[in-house]
Amino acid sequence: MKRKMKIVRLSFLLFLLLQAISSQSCSKQDRLALSALTSRFQIPFSSDSDCCEWEGVKCNSSTGRVTELSLRNSVEQYINYSDFSVFKDLKHLHLSLDNNIVGCVGNEGLPSLEVLELKLDNAASILSCVDGLSNLKSLYLSYNSFNTSSLHHVLETLSSKLSNLEVLDISGNTLTNDILPSLEGFTSLKELHLSQTELDSDLHIEGLCSKLSNLEVLDLSQNNFKDCDIGSALRLSILTNLTNLALSYNNIHNFVVREGSKSLSRLEELTLDGNMIDGNKLRDSLRALSSSIRVLSMSGNTFKGTIVAGDFKDLSNLQNLRLDGSRNMENKFLKRIGELTSLKLLSVAYSDINGTLPQADWFKLKNLEELDLSYNKFDGPLPSSFGNMTSLRILELSQNLFTGQFDSNIASLTSPS
Ligand SMILES: *[C@@H]1O[C@H](CO)[C@@H](O)[C@H](O)[C@H]1NC(C)=O
Ligand SMILES: *[C@@H]1O[C@H](CO)[C@@H](O)[C@H](O)[C@H]1NC(C)=O
Ligand SMILES: *[C@@H]1O[C@H](CO)[C@@H](O)[C@H](O)[C@H]1NC(C)=O
Ligand SMILES: *[C@@H]1O[C@H](CO)[C@@H](O)[C@H](O)[C@H]1NC(C)=O
Ligand SMILES: *[C@@H]1O[C@H](CO)[C@@H](O)[C@H](O)[C@H]1NC(C)=O
Ligand SMILES: *[C@@H]1O[C@H](CO)[C@@H](O)[C@H](O)[C@H]1NC(C)=O
Repeated sequence: MKRKMKIVRLSFLLFLLLQAISSQSCSKQDRLALSALTSRFQIPFSSDSDCCEWEGVKCNSSTGRVTELSLRNSVEQYINYSDFSVFKDLKHLHLSLDNNIVGCVGNEGLPSLEVLELKLDNAASILSCVDGLSNLKSLYLSYNSFNTSSLHHVLETLSSKLSNLEVLDISGNTLTNDILPSLEGFTSLKELHLSQTELDSDLHIEGLCSKLSNLEVLDLSQNNFKDCDIGSALRLSILTNLTNLALSYNNIHNFVVREGSKSLSRLEELTLDGNMIDGNKLRDSLRALSSSIRVLSMSGNTFKGTIVAGDFKDLSNLQNLRLDGSRNMENKFLKRIGELTSLKLLSVAYSDINGTLPQADWFKLKNLEELDLSYNKFDGPLPSSFGNMTSLRILELSQNLFTGQFDSNIASLTSPS
């Protein structure tokens, strides 16, 4: 009898538990709306399980309302915005469509939408009629086969409508500098991604920087910026809130020299991979930057002139320095490495450096946690003061020609397996 009671009680508990779980699953309205979408998109929605678990669907776990939707392969030639306005809590919509969408219907707003991500051949056709995105914060339009005239038109229309936009990504479209004026209306932007857009050194970009003075992240990688004084050309000094600047894979020899760029007082991360930085001017250009820089990446550079560790010593808060895969690095780069006392990470792998590691003041690198010198041609023994880098956790020395025995201090390092 007692046993039976227990079982009854247990099943009741189980029932309550199941109910609690099911109340967190997909809401009825959203489930119906999702099912309706299966007629327009080729989506592998299954009919039985909780629709919050369906591929491409994410829900708010307490309300069960759909918050994120990722859809591919429309069977229609148009987008029906009414299909999405049903999802009252939809914050993130990602459409990746490989057929030719020619336009859109339905003009209901999507007032809760914050992120819109589009990957399709003709995004212009569905952006031209979009309206009522009053809360949109991020718009991702990278790799959409836009050209300057098609995107110019779209952005001019959108900039008046999207007054809260903070992130815009138009990377990977074939553009010219003529696109820049159409960006000036997005005055609330904090992040702008313009990589691989064929922008060139003849910039006419001053207007852009003065209008977009709230920018914190600016990505100008993989364009055609050449050897000029890139910092002044971009008028970067106007961007006093800039924290991240990416200028990788251009043809930059010298990036900032004017004192005006001192006003980049919040710049924390500068990426200059794959350029042709001139070692003779490096210290001057870096000095013009402020001491706020923590991460500097110059991997894959074909350096002109000689670069030495001392070139970086004015960056008193530099924590990460990456110079992997560079050409024309010399052994003497490391001679004054002990001056970079703030470093936590130094990576100079794959850089074809030969000779013995100099007896530099390695012991002064008290903050260094990670050192990668692998895939070079270093030979001979390790310097004795190597063992005094007391914070070192990861030491990567493989694929060199070192000889001799490791100092017992180094042997006790906890390096990765
Ligand atoms: C889920 O919805 C509730 C009620 O609307 C809201 O307070 C909460 O912030 C939402 N959670 C997330 C992660 O968005
Ligand atoms: C758009 O979608 C709504 C709701 O899903 C539907 O009622 C309407 O008929 C659709 N319009 C067109 C033109 O397909
Ligand atoms: C730009 O793209 C539009 C729409 O895809 C196209 O009609 C136009 O011919 C293109 N213009 C150029 C110069 O390629
Ligand atoms: C920069 O950021 C601060 C807050 O961190 C903000 O008050 C200011 O409006 C931003 N813009 C400019 C141009 O300083
Ligand atoms: C070491 O590198 C320097 C320049 O980087 C080069 O001139 C020299 O020939 C190299 N020596 C050996 C033994 O490879
Ligand atoms: C390096 O460490 C050794 C042993 O811990 C110590 O005797 C020596 O004084 C240290 N040298 C420097 C330069 O800090």
